[in-house]
Amino acid sequence: MLTLKIKRFQAEREPQGWIDIFSLEPRKGINLLEALLRIQDEQDGTLSFRYSCRGAVCGSCAMKVNGNVVLACRTHVEDLMEKPAFIEPLPYFPVLRDLMVDMSTFFTRYRELEPYLHGEPVSSHQEYFMDEDKRKEIDPYINCILCGICFGVCPAFERDLQYLGPAMLAKAYRFLIDPRDKRSEEILKIVDRQAGVWGCNTVFRCVKFCPKEVPPTHAILKLREKILKHRLSSILPFLSPRHK
Ligand code: SF4
Ligand code: FES
Repeated sequence: MLTLKIKRFQAEREPQGWIDIFSLEPRKGINLLEALLRIQDEQDGTLSFRYSCRGAVCGSCAMKVNGNVVLACRTHVEDLMEKPAFIEPLPYFPVLRDLMVDMSTFFTRYRELEPYLHGEPVSSHQEYFMDEDKRKEIDPYINCILCGICFGVCPAFERDLQYLGPAMLAKAYRFLIDPRDKRSEEILKIVDRQAGVWGCNTVFRCVKFCPKEVPPTHAILKLREKILKHRLSSILPFLSPRHK
Protein backbone atom coordinates (compact mmCIF):
# COMPACT_ATOMS: atom_id res chain seq x y z
CA MET A 1 0.00 0.00 0.00
CA LEU A 2 1.30 3.46 -0.93
CA THR A 3 0.58 6.22 1.58
CA LEU A 4 1.13 9.85 0.66
CA LYS A 5 1.01 12.66 3.20
CA ILE A 6 0.40 15.74 1.07
CA LYS A 7 0.85 19.33 2.18
CA ARG A 8 -2.22 21.21 0.96
CA PHE A 9 -2.97 24.90 0.46
CA GLN A 10 -6.13 26.41 -0.93
CA ALA A 11 -6.61 30.15 -0.47
CA GLU A 12 -10.42 29.97 -0.42
CA ARG A 13 -10.56 27.45 2.46
CA GLU A 14 -10.35 27.89 6.20
CA PRO A 15 -7.80 26.90 7.37
CA GLN A 16 -5.88 27.53 4.14
CA GLY A 17 -3.17 24.99 4.86
CA TRP A 18 -3.46 21.40 6.10
CA ILE A 19 -2.00 17.91 5.59
CA ASP A 20 -4.02 15.17 3.86
CA ILE A 21 -3.24 11.46 3.94
CA PHE A 22 -4.15 9.35 0.90
CA SER A 23 -3.59 5.62 0.44
CA LEU A 24 -3.79 3.50 -2.68
CA GLU A 25 -2.72 0.12 -3.98
CA PRO A 26 -0.41 1.10 -6.85
CA ARG A 27 -0.02 -0.84 -10.07
CA LYS A 28 3.49 -2.22 -10.54
CA GLY A 29 5.94 0.23 -12.10
CA ILE A 30 3.93 3.44 -11.78
CA ASN A 31 5.55 6.73 -10.88
CA LEU A 32 4.53 9.35 -8.34
CA LEU A 33 2.80 11.52 -10.94
CA GLU A 34 0.58 8.60 -11.95
CA ALA A 35 -0.22 7.97 -8.28
CA LEU A 36 -1.20 11.63 -7.81
CA LEU A 37 -3.39 11.47 -10.92
CA ARG A 38 -5.15 8.41 -9.50
CA ILE A 39 -5.75 10.17 -6.19
CA GLN A 40 -7.13 13.17 -8.08
CA ASP A 41 -9.39 10.85 -10.12
CA GLU A 42 -10.61 8.58 -7.36
CA GLN A 43 -10.27 10.38 -4.03
CA ASP A 44 -10.02 14.17 -4.28
CA GLY A 45 -10.65 16.04 -7.51
CA THR A 46 -9.45 19.30 -5.94
CA LEU A 47 -5.87 18.06 -5.45
CA SER A 48 -3.76 20.41 -7.61
CA PHE A 49 -0.35 19.87 -9.18
CA ARG A 50 1.33 20.63 -12.51
CA TYR A 51 2.37 18.20 -15.20
CA SER A 52 2.42 17.99 -18.96
CA CYS A 53 4.82 15.61 -20.74
CA ARG A 54 4.85 12.80 -18.12
CA GLY A 55 8.34 11.95 -19.36
CA ALA A 56 10.91 14.29 -17.69
CA VAL A 57 10.89 16.73 -20.59
CA CYS A 58 8.63 19.68 -19.73
CA GLY A 59 10.00 20.28 -16.22
CA SER A 60 6.61 21.11 -14.72
CA CYS A 61 6.13 18.38 -12.08
CA ALA A 62 8.94 19.26 -9.64
CA MET A 63 8.02 18.82 -5.96
CA LYS A 64 9.56 17.94 -2.61
CA VAL A 65 9.34 14.28 -1.65
CA ASN A 66 10.63 13.14 1.74
CA GLY A 67 12.91 16.19 1.84
CA ASN A 68 14.39 15.71 -1.65
CA VAL A 69 13.30 17.80 -4.62
CA VAL A 70 12.45 15.60 -7.60
CA LEU A 71 10.35 15.29 -10.75
CA ALA A 72 7.18 13.37 -9.83
CA CYS A 73 7.10 11.69 -13.24
CA ARG A 74 10.58 10.29 -12.64
CA THR A 75 10.02 9.02 -9.10
CA HIS A 76 9.12 5.35 -8.82
CA VAL A 77 6.52 4.63 -6.15
CA GLU A 78 8.37 1.41 -5.26
CA ASP A 79 10.92 3.71 -3.61
CA LEU A 80 8.20 5.32 -1.48
CA MET A 81 6.45 2.25 -0.08
CA GLU A 82 8.45 1.73 3.11
CA LYS A 83 6.70 4.46 5.11
CA PRO A 84 4.25 7.29 4.37
CA ALA A 85 5.90 9.66 1.88
CA PHE A 86 5.67 13.37 2.63
CA ILE A 87 4.95 15.47 -0.46
CA GLU A 88 5.38 19.26 -0.44
CA PRO A 89 5.53 21.98 -3.09
CA LEU A 90 8.82 23.18 -4.57
CA PRO A 91 10.60 25.27 -1.89
CA TYR A 92 11.31 29.04 -2.19
CA PHE A 93 8.42 29.67 -4.60
CA PRO A 94 5.07 31.15 -3.48
CA VAL A 95 2.42 28.42 -3.33
CA LEU A 96 -0.61 29.00 -5.55
CA ARG A 97 -2.55 25.87 -4.66
CA ASP A 98 -1.49 22.54 -3.12
CA LEU A 99 1.63 21.46 -5.06
CA MET A 100 1.44 24.23 -7.66
CA VAL A 101 3.85 27.13 -7.19
CA ASP A 102 4.18 30.51 -8.83
CA MET A 103 7.31 30.34 -11.00
CA SER A 104 6.99 33.81 -12.51
CA THR A 105 10.17 35.15 -10.81
CA PHE A 106 12.10 32.19 -12.19
CA PHE A 107 10.93 32.85 -15.75
CA THR A 108 11.31 36.64 -15.45
CA ARG A 109 14.97 36.12 -14.54
CA TYR A 110 15.30 33.66 -17.39
CA ARG A 111 13.85 36.14 -19.88
CA GLU A 112 16.08 38.95 -18.58
CA LEU A 113 19.07 36.86 -19.55
CA GLU A 114 17.81 36.85 -23.16
CA PRO A 115 18.59 33.13 -23.45
CA TYR A 116 19.09 32.94 -27.19
CA LEU A 117 22.03 33.50 -29.50
CA HIS A 118 23.11 37.10 -30.04
CA GLY A 119 25.34 36.41 -33.01
CA GLU A 120 26.25 38.16 -36.22
CA PRO A 121 23.35 37.88 -38.66
CA VAL A 122 23.82 35.17 -41.28
CA SER A 123 21.93 34.83 -44.53
CA SER A 124 19.66 31.86 -45.12
CA HIS A 125 22.40 30.31 -47.33
CA GLN A 126 25.02 30.48 -44.60
CA GLU A 127 25.47 28.51 -41.43
CA TYR A 128 27.36 29.00 -38.19
CA PHE A 129 30.25 26.57 -37.97
CA MET A 130 30.79 25.14 -34.52
CA ASP A 131 33.99 23.61 -33.25
CA GLU A 132 33.33 20.02 -32.06
CA ASP A 133 35.19 20.43 -28.74
CA LYS A 134 33.43 23.70 -28.01
CA ARG A 135 30.08 22.07 -28.68
CA LYS A 136 30.93 19.29 -26.20
CA GLU A 137 31.73 21.94 -23.60
CA ILE A 138 28.34 23.61 -24.14
CA ASP A 139 26.29 20.40 -24.37
CA PRO A 140 25.67 19.71 -20.65
CA TYR A 141 24.15 23.17 -20.22
CA ILE A 142 21.74 22.77 -23.12
CA ASN A 143 19.88 19.95 -21.35
CA CYS A 144 18.16 22.20 -18.78
CA ILE A 145 14.36 21.72 -18.76
CA LEU A 146 13.69 24.73 -16.47
CA CYS A 147 12.14 22.58 -13.77
CA GLY A 148 13.31 24.82 -10.90
CA ILE A 149 14.66 21.91 -8.83
CA CYS A 150 18.07 23.58 -8.53
CA PHE A 151 16.30 26.62 -7.01
CA GLY A 152 14.41 24.38 -4.60
CA VAL A 153 17.58 22.78 -3.22
CA CYS A 154 19.84 25.85 -3.21
CA PRO A 155 20.76 27.16 0.28
CA ALA A 156 21.71 30.58 -1.15
CA PHE A 157 17.98 31.43 -1.35
CA GLU A 158 17.72 31.20 2.43
CA ARG A 159 19.98 34.24 2.53
CA ASP A 160 18.85 36.10 -0.56
CA LEU A 161 15.68 35.57 -2.58
CA GLN A 162 17.11 37.91 -5.22
CA TYR A 163 19.86 35.40 -6.01
CA LEU A 164 19.88 34.71 -9.76
CA GLY A 165 19.93 30.98 -9.14
CA PRO A 166 21.81 27.96 -10.50
CA ALA A 167 19.82 27.47 -13.72
CA MET A 168 20.23 31.11 -14.80
CA LEU A 169 23.95 31.15 -14.05
CA ALA A 170 24.42 27.89 -15.95
CA LYS A 171 22.53 29.39 -18.88
CA ALA A 172 24.67 32.56 -18.72
CA TYR A 173 27.81 30.43 -18.91
CA ARG A 174 26.37 28.44 -21.82
CA PHE A 175 26.05 31.64 -23.90
CA LEU A 176 29.32 33.14 -22.64
CA ILE A 177 31.36 30.24 -24.01
CA ASP A 178 29.39 29.93 -27.23
CA PRO A 179 31.68 31.36 -29.94
CA ARG A 180 28.61 32.40 -31.94
CA ASP A 181 27.35 34.74 -29.20
CA LYS A 182 28.97 38.16 -29.10
CA ARG A 183 27.85 39.27 -25.63
CA SER A 184 30.84 38.36 -23.40
CA GLU A 185 31.08 41.65 -21.46
CA GLU A 186 27.32 42.01 -21.13
CA ILE A 187 26.94 38.50 -19.69
CA LEU A 188 29.80 38.96 -17.22
CA LYS A 189 28.19 42.22 -16.08
CA ILE A 190 24.87 40.47 -15.36
CA VAL A 191 26.43 37.72 -13.23
CA ASP A 192 29.23 39.69 -11.50
CA ARG A 193 27.39 40.61 -8.29
CA GLN A 194 26.52 39.24 -4.88
CA ALA A 195 23.12 38.05 -6.15
CA GLY A 196 25.00 36.45 -9.07
CA VAL A 197 28.03 34.17 -9.08
CA TRP A 198 29.35 35.50 -5.77
CA GLY A 199 26.20 34.41 -3.92
CA CYS A 200 26.75 30.70 -4.56
CA ASN A 201 27.66 28.59 -1.49
CA THR A 202 29.42 26.04 -3.76
CA VAL A 203 27.81 23.10 -1.99
CA PHE A 204 26.95 21.41 -5.33
CA ARG A 205 23.36 20.58 -4.30
CA CYS A 206 22.09 21.80 -7.69
CA VAL A 207 24.51 19.44 -9.43
CA LYS A 208 23.44 16.54 -7.22
CA PHE A 209 19.68 17.03 -7.68
CA CYS A 210 19.42 18.22 -11.30
CA PRO A 211 17.39 15.55 -13.14
CA LYS A 212 19.16 16.36 -16.42
CA GLU A 213 22.74 16.28 -15.12
CA VAL A 214 23.32 19.97 -15.76
CA PRO A 215 26.29 21.09 -13.60
CA PRO A 216 25.43 24.69 -12.52
CA THR A 217 28.12 24.94 -9.82
CA HIS A 218 30.82 24.12 -12.37
CA ALA A 219 29.48 26.92 -14.56
CA ILE A 220 29.47 29.32 -11.60
CA LEU A 221 33.10 28.54 -10.73
CA LYS A 222 34.14 29.01 -14.35
CA LEU A 223 32.22 32.30 -14.52
CA ARG A 224 34.04 33.52 -11.40
CA GLU A 225 37.36 32.64 -13.02
CA LYS A 226 36.42 34.50 -16.20
CA ILE A 227 35.35 37.57 -14.20
CA LEU A 228 38.64 37.66 -12.29
CA LYS A 229 40.65 37.28 -15.49
CA HIS A 230 38.59 40.01 -17.10
CA ARG A 231 39.22 42.37 -14.15
CA LEU A 232 42.94 41.58 -14.21
CA SER A 233 43.15 42.21 -17.93
CA SER A 234 41.84 45.75 -17.42
CA ILE A 235 44.87 46.55 -15.24
CA LEU A 236 47.32 44.27 -17.07
CA PRO A 237 46.28 44.64 -20.73
CA PHE A 238 48.68 41.95 -21.98
CA LEU A 239 46.37 39.42 -20.23
CA SER A 240 43.69 39.84 -22.87
CA PRO A 241 40.47 38.03 -21.84
CA ARG A 242 39.40 35.04 -23.88
CA HIS A 243 35.89 34.04 -22.84
CA LYS A 244 35.02 31.90 -25.82
S1 SF4 B 1 19.65 23.20 -14.16
FE1 SF4 B 1 18.71 21.17 -13.81
S2 SF4 B 1 17.55 21.43 -11.91
FE2 SF4 B 1 18.00 23.49 -12.66
S3 SF4 B 1 16.20 24.08 -13.85
FE3 SF4 B 1 17.69 23.16 -15.28
S4 SF4 B 1 17.13 20.99 -15.38
FE4 SF4 B 1 16.11 21.82 -13.58
S1 FES C 1 5.42 15.95 -16.36
FE1 FES C 1 6.95 16.89 -17.64
S2 FES C 1 8.74 16.71 -16.45
FE2 FES C 1 7.29 15.63 -15.28
